[in-house]
Amino acid sequence: MNSNDIEMVSVTKTFGSNLVVNNIDLAIPTGEFVSILGPSGCGKTTTLNMIAGFAQPSSGEIRIRGKSQRGVPPEKRGIGMVFQNYALFPHMTIAENVGFGLKMKKRPAGETRDAVQNALRRVHLDGFENRYPKELSGGQQQRTALARAIAPEPSLLLLDEPLSNLDLKLREAMRVELKDIQEQLAMTFVYVTHDQDEAMAMSDRIVVMQDGVIAQTGRPAEIYEHPRSSFVADFIGKSNLLPISDIRQIENDWFVSLGTKGLTLSVFIPDGMSGHDARYCCIRPEAVRLAVTDEGIPPLPNRLEGTLSRIVNLGAYFDCFITLKDGTVLKSLVRSTRLPGLAVNQAVFLSIDPDAVQLLSR
Ligand SMILES: Nc1ncnc2c1ncn2[C@@H]1O[C@H](COP(=O)(O)OP(=O)(O)OP(=O)(O)O)[C@@H](O)[C@H]1O
Ligand SMILES: [Mg+2]
Repeated sequence: MNSNDIEMVSVTKTFGSNLVVNNIDLAIPTGEFVSILGPSGCGKTTTLNMIAGFAQPSSGEIRIRGKSQRGVPPEKRGIGMVFQNYALFPHMTIAENVGFGLKMKKRPAGETRDAVQNALRRVHLDGFENRYPKELSGGQQQRTALARAIAPEPSLLLLDEPLSNLDLKLREAMRVELKDIQEQLAMTFVYVTHDQDEAMAMSDRIVVMQDGVIAQTGRPAEIYEHPRSSFVADFIGKSNLLPISDIRQIENDWFVSLGTKGLTLSVFIPDGMSGHDARYCCIRPEAVRLAVTDEGIPPLPNRLEGTLSRIVNLGAYFDCFITLKDGTVLKSLVRSTRLPGLAVNQAVFLSIDPDAVQLLSR
């Protein structure tokens, strides 16, 4: 009994001399919601296409439910897919598009009608049954593609940026719908996105890709709190990413120097890392505490002084940019209700807990 729906073993894909997916190993257990996250061109769609059978690996093997898929055409893989470009049938109505997979499976007409209604309701498109794709907006077409993929309730669904064309409100509503569908039907989802909030909100596990390789795999919190490289730290969430110019140990304490002008912070070395391997530090903006007086600010060295150089109002939060005396700029996330009346050019104090400084070796 194999509990993995998908296994990719040493999978590589080249187009001509272009190495697009480079020796990927990935196992996805049944019922897991996995997101593949990474910048444009890193190989996400190519990876999905190989799982679906629309592209063949140049080397390596893909197994679905334990069976090698070499030579198995897409329609025999028992997978649903939502394409990045929707791929709706232009000559079919919305209802016919959504019912297409069920009709192919020769389900009774009444059952298909109910499944189509149900899927359209899920994507907030009831009432659109008789329109044609060209009579819909881009976001409505995208939701039709989603409904078409979920209507047959496949046990394994591959989704390529399925919400990219929706406005924020609708995207957030659809995230909840998709997560519900996936959980209620115990489906395996492989979800491609370059929206890190989306990946953080929905996934059991995130796979971060960079230039055709897997940079890191882990639960969302794990990736956010313990990124393994400066690329991952920078890509997932906001960060203050600073190169380390020197790291030294004084008795039991470790100190890093950042930049060239003597900015020093006390840090903790995580288990499994040698302090001497640290090259970068990542400090999340919410870990940079800002105060307008030095009252309650802990002592040196993790207490910094600077000037508020920019404030970006995000509604519930301010993104504050603080220029330190040595010229380093740090970002701090401040709840709007906590420090009302912040103004540019104001002198401020910052504090950073040593354990909030994430050390990275590359
Ligand atoms: N059929 C093809 N022939 C040649 N090169 C291709 C082909 N398909 C993809 N590529 C190249 O492979 C690389 C990865 O493409 P892919 O579509 O997998 O990226 P992606 O991560 O999905 O990006 P995006 O976020 O922009 O959709 C790109 O450099 C792309 O130009
Ligand atoms: Mg893509």
